[in-house]
Amino acid sequence: MDDKLWYTLFLLARKGAVKNPVEISSTRFCEELNVSQQTASRRLQELEKLGYITREIKRQGQLIKITEKGVNILKELYYGLRAIFEEKPTIVKLEGEVFTGLGEGRFYLSLEKYRKQILEKLGFLPYPGTLNLKLKNKVDLETRKMLKSFSGIRIKGFKNDLRTYGDAICYPVLINEKISGAIIFAQRTHYGDDVLEIIAPVCLRETLKLNDGDTVVLTVDLRQLY
Ligand code: CDP
Repeated sequence: MDDKLWYTLFLLARKGAVKNPVEISSTRFCEELNVSQQTASRRLQELEKLGYITREIKRQGQLIKITEKGVNILKELYYGLRAIFEEKPTIVKLEGEVFTGLGEGRFYLSLEKYRKQILEKLGFLPYPGTLNLKLKNKVDLETRKMLKSFSGIRIKGFKNDLRTYGDAICYPVLINEKISGAIIFAQRTHYGDDVLEIIAPVCLRETLKLNDGDTVVLTVDLRQLY
């Protein structure tokens, strides 16, 4: 994202537009941004076009609210800065319980177009399938949300004669302190917010002797995500 747009979004957030719509007067707002009124209004238009804010034009000014997509952009930077200034651990852990899904992972992870990209971008050829994990506690649900605010590694979708295949976003993780793999979020998924799907170069059920109901620990190094 353009750094100027980012700063505009930041100013809107400071005015409270993350939680509620805030009323912006264009004359005052351009002074705060230190640009002409035209430039300020162009930036707001662009932010709206990119889906980072919603606007309602009023006679006196406009009501602006930051969308979830906009909040995610801000959060990504926030977590980045927090890691720099707070000296908090940049390693986070998540745990979830193995469960059997609908068998779709095997199909998608067998597709050559996805496999090739995963090899190029993540450095391994995935075992055809995803290991499904159900998150059981609130902290892990929050961590999942936090992770999603990072851009991650994008595996691009594609089209063939029959249908289109969506994008997926990956985040490298260490599985049970032993095997490097990745969390994969499919753009289209049947699963809810309490599920993570994992890919790895090996069959995790075999290598880690996992059965349904077993707990798996994932370790994410946030520094790898910037
Ligand atoms: O049927 P389900 O959706 O759970 O699985 P799938 O994505 O079609 O994957 C086939 C099988 O391989 C499932 O039992 C997964 O749990 C397992 N798997 C694994 O053990 N290690 C991986 N790296 C990926 C999948």
